[in-house]
Amino acid sequence: MTNKVCVVGAGSTKYGKLNESIIEIALSAAVDAINSAGITPKDIQAGYISNVFGVADRQVHMAPVIMSNLGIPNVPGLTIESACGSGSVMFREAYANVAAGFYDCVLALGVEKVTHTGTARSTTLFSYCSDFFYEGGNGASFPGLFASMARAYMTSHKASEEDLANVAVKNHENGLLNPKAHVRKKITVDDVLKSPVVADPLKLLDCCPFSDGASAVILCSEDFAKKSGRPYVEIIGSGRGASPAAVQGREDITTIPSTVAAAKQAYKMAGITPKDIDFAEVHDCFTIAEIIDIEDLGFFPKGKAARAVREGATRLTGDIPVNPSGGLKSKGHPIGATGVGQVVEVFDQFTGRADGREVKGAEIALTHNFGATGASAAVHIFKKVDRK
Ligand SMILES: CC(C)(COP(=O)(O)OP(=O)(O)OC[C@H]1O[C@@H](n2cnc3c(N)ncnc32)[C@H](O)[C@@H]1OP(=O)(O)O)[C@@H](O)C(=O)NCCC(=O)NCCS
Repeated sequence: MTNKVCVVGAGSTKYGKLNESIIEIALSAAVDAINSAGITPKDIQAGYISNVFGVADRQVHMAPVIMSNLGIPNVPGLTIESACGSGSVMFREAYANVAAGFYDCVLALGVEKVTHTGTARSTTLFSYCSDFFYEGGNGASFPGLFASMARAYMTSHKASEEDLANVAVKNHENGLLNPKAHVRKKITVDDVLKSPVVADPLKLLDCCPFSDGASAVILCSEDFAKKSGRPYVEIIGSGRGASPAAVQGREDITTIPSTVAAAKQAYKMAGITPKDIDFAEVHDCFTIAEIIDIEDLGFFPKGKAARAVREGATRLTGDIPVNPSGGLKSKGHPIGATGVGQVVEVFDQFTGRADGREVKGAEIALTHNFGATGASAAVHIFKKVDRK
């Protein structure tokens, strides 16, 4: 039996190329989250930090540094790394510790700063998150690995490059409504198809950018949330999954086993099915990833997602809006922060802070975030709580 856990505050920096240090970025998001929860740092009993490449900005062992800078040096912190899925994997650890009753109130913060290293260096650094012996070390970068998945999917399910482009167009449309998004630019299918090829069939506009940024949330017990007098959101499902680290170790590369497993656990825990989800923030590091995700999460049958996207089912006004924030594609992908940023979007949507991109009438939302090509993944489900 676990205790109910809620999100009572959230904050985020803008995502993009940021000039501040990694610690300054982290603190800015932490302070926003603390203020939005109406608490002081002294209310925080533990800190969970997700980050991958702190070393690129000369800071590892980030948790105690952040806690010290918040004026709570004696509060234990833990830094967690799970590649691009670090934020959600860390969020689950924070959730589990509150659910188990170890703490009443914790900070969960994700941060990344890489853009100053440049595209070539960032591509090399990120390839260390693959199964380097088989993949990165042989020149298979992430765009290359996702390009293989795209080709396999297009062949098996008769999808086209236009089908992939539709995902980018929709996410850029949403990102335009998000002042904190990295790439805020209206694009057309033609723009995507004519953008430079990065790894065939993926083009520049099929890819997420390299981003800096930080996102933070305050997790707490239900009792703490009620007493806070602030708006809050309840976590009703949590799941984690794993896949063979290298793409070549998988039987079928048009699905990601870790997503399927994590989603199954989260739905079971929440006692709901995919049909009950009102909107989702999913891991669209490349357009093909979103197509695969929304099938693996059970929103569409295998091979049917491309058509659903084409028909508008995943737009803000569609049956199941996907990535109202703009997703990794437009909002950006500061890898240590991404999974937490998705939770910030859910909090903003459910507490009236998503002006202009609000999913009308939404009450249940899902977040999905994975590491590398899906070696690790976590899925969370949230319920809006109406304070009377
Ligand atoms: C797509 C990619 C190769 C582009 O790199 P690049 O060509 O060096 O791009 P630059 O940073 O020089 O930017 C060039 C222009 O394109 C824009 N841009 C860069 N990446 C973009 C993207 N993914 N989508 C849209 N626009 C992008 C920049 O804003 C810039 O525009 P400007 O000239 O108007 O300022 C790079 O962003 C990439 O590899 N992304 C994938 C990151 C990744 O693998 N993440 C992990 C996922 S698992």
